[in-house]
Amino acid sequence: MAGRDNQPATVLITGASRGLGRAMAQQYAAAGWRVIACGRGPSAGDGIVQETLDVADPVSILDLARRLDGMPIDMLINNAGIRGDTGGLQTLATDDFLEVMRINTLGPLLVTRALLPNLLSSQRKIVANISSRAGSIAEGTLDDDDGDYAYRCSKAALNMATVKLAQDLRADGVTVLSLHPGWVKTDMGGDEAVVPVADSASGLRRIIDSATLADTGSFRAFDGRTVSW
Ligand SMILES: NC(=O)c1ccc[n+]([C@@H]2O[C@H](COP(=O)([O-])OP(=O)(O)OC[C@H]3O[C@@H](n4cnc5c(N)ncnc54)[C@H](OP(=O)(O)O)[C@@H]3O)[C@@H](O)[C@H]2O)c1
Repeated sequence: MAGRDNQPATVLITGASRGLGRAMAQQYAAAGWRVIACGRGPSAGDGIVQETLDVADPVSILDLARRLDGMPIDMLINNAGIRGDTGGLQTLATDDFLEVMRINTLGPLLVTRALLPNLLSSQRKIVANISSRAGSIAEGTLDDDDGDYAYRCSKAALNMATVKLAQDLRADGVTVLSLHPGWVKTDMGGDEAVVPVADSASGLRRIIDSATLADTGSFRAFDGRTVSW
């Protein structure tokens, strides 16, 4: 996959220390992409550029942007996320709720803003926000009654961030997507989850890699299905 001036295309992934982010980083690297794997923890693997990033920390985000100044980034995958308290209304706690919103919603917005010059100087110009069907107002509670107030609200708000960014950045040719990875076997998804992490990562890659400006502002699942907002 070529980026600008026949350089390898570059993908930056947040939360790449484990789970889905790590799997996507490894798959992109195997497919010949230049991968910048961002995280608070250890490297995503050989041949992958590792950058330190805590998406809850605006200073960490600006530091990353400073280090990457001038480097075109074809795809930004805002993947880092936490689930927070799952107990429901009675166990909802202020600090927990705000921490989930900070990481899952504000983080992707601040990272996108900080790396916008890198995206604009690239060939592809794609922002993929890893959301969740749990944050869909239309579908999120259909077959899922977990408490998850903070998580659901954070992903619903992330979906609005996708739509608003899509509107604002369309004229600059930037495509912005919300994506549902399925119920994935990761630390977050747990042992009972049904989608192997490699399958989710490859499904998401198929959607991200084929996305064009015609897809901006859409919400898709890893299997290609359109998710209702
Ligand atoms: N698994 C599922 O079934 C499922 C379903 C729907 C949506 N999703 C979404 O998919 C994405 C990936 O989830 P996953 O299942 O791979 O979860 P995971 O296994 O728990 O991994 C979460 C990743 O996010 C990183 N992270 C958390 N807070 C961060 C912060 N403040 N700054 C930087 N990185 C941070 C973690 O880094 P550390 O190692 O440093 O903690 C880790 O790399 C999330 O956005 C999640 O909401 C997952």
